[in-house]
Amino acid sequence: MPSKSQPEVVIRAATPADSSICGQICYDAFSTLSAKHGFPCDFPGPEVAICILSMLFSSPGFYCVVAESEGRIVGSNGLDERSMIAGIGPITIDPAAQNLGVGRKLMQAVMDRANERHPAGMRLVQAAYHNRSLALYASLGFDVREPLSCIQGRPRERNVPGCAVRPAQPADLDACNALSRRVHGFDRGTELAQAIQQNTAIVVERAGRITGYATVLAFFGHATAETNLDMQSLIASAESFGGSGILLPSRNTSLLRWCLANGLHVVQPMTLMTIGLYNEPSGAWFPSVLF
Ligand SMILES: CC(C)(COP(=O)(O)OP(=O)(O)OC[C@H]1O[C@@H](n2cnc3c(N)ncnc32)[C@H](O)[C@@H]1OP(=O)(O)O)[C@@H](O)C(=O)NCCC(=O)NCCS
Repeated sequence: MPSKSQPEVVIRAATPADSSICGQICYDAFSTLSAKHGFPCDFPGPEVAICILSMLFSSPGFYCVVAESEGRIVGSNGLDERSMIAGIGPITIDPAAQNLGVGRKLMQAVMDRANERHPAGMRLVQAAYHNRSLALYASLGFDVREPLSCIQGRPRERNVPGCAVRPAQPADLDACNALSRRVHGFDRGTELAQAIQQNTAIVVERAGRITGYATVLAFFGHATAETNLDMQSLIASAESFGGSGILLPSRNTSLLRWCLANGLHVVQPMTLMTIGLYNEPSGAWFPSVLF
C-alpha cells in the first residue's frame, strides 16, 4: 500500500497536449538541479524545454510517458526507438515530487517498453554531478561506459587542411551508415535521414570519400568520424554548438586538448551509461544527450 508521503503514481503514454506542463517541469527540474551545483542550466528557459518535448511527444520514433499523482502530472520520460539501440531521456520530475520513487517508475516504464522490442541495448547520458540519477540508473542495471565533457565555444581554427565539410545530402546516407557500422557496430540511419531532411546534417570528405558526419553539432545531435582529424574539421566548421554543447568522450584526450587549444571551454561533465551491447567505438565520436 502506498504511504501518505508516497501517493499512488500512474504512468501513461504522453500526448502532445502534455508538452507545456512537462516542458515546464523539465525546465524547473534542470534549473533547480544545476543552480544547486553551480552549473549552467541545459535549457535557457521553459519555452525551449516545451518545444523539445512537444517534438518528442509527437514524433513516431519516440515513445514518451508521463507520471500522474493525485490527478496532476509530476514528471515525464522518453524512449528513442529509431535504431537497434534504445535511447532513454530526458527524464525529469517536478522538484516538489523528487526522491519519492517517481523517477524509478518512469525509467521502468520505458525500459519495459524497450524490452518488448528486444533492442541490442539501451543507453542514456547522465549529468555526472548528480548523485541521485547515477544511483538510480546504476541500480536499474546501467553500466558506466564513458566520461563525457560537454564543450562549447567558437573554434579558432576555421578549417583543417585536406578536409572539406559540406551539408549532407540524401545520397550520403549509405556511406555515413557504413561508417557508423564500422565505428560503432550499428547505424543511426533513421536519425541521420531526418537530420538531412531538416538541413542540419554535415559530412566531411577527405581524399575523395566521406570520413565523418554529424546530424547536427549540438547537445541533441551525434557525430561519427574515422579519425580525430576528420572530427576536428567538423568542429572547426561550426560557429557554435547547439544547446549546452557537444559531448566529447573525455578519454579522447588528444581531441580534448585540440578543442582547448582552439579556445573551446568545458561546460559540464556527463556520463554515458549502457545496458546490453556495447562496442568500444573504433573512431572519433560524440554521442547525443540521448546516447
Ligand atoms: C533524476 C530524477 C529523474 C530521479 O527521479 P526521482 O523521482 O527523484 O528518483 P527516485 O526517487 O525514483 O529514485 C532515486 C533513487 O536513488 C536513490 N538515491 C538518491 N540519492 C542517492 C545517493 N546520493 N546515493 C545513493 N542512492 C541515492 C534513492 O534512494 C532512490 O533509490 P530507491 O528507489 O532504491 O529508493 C529526478 O530527481 C530529476 O528530475 N532530477 C533533475 C533532472 C535530472 O537530473 N534528470 C536526469 C538527467 S540525467
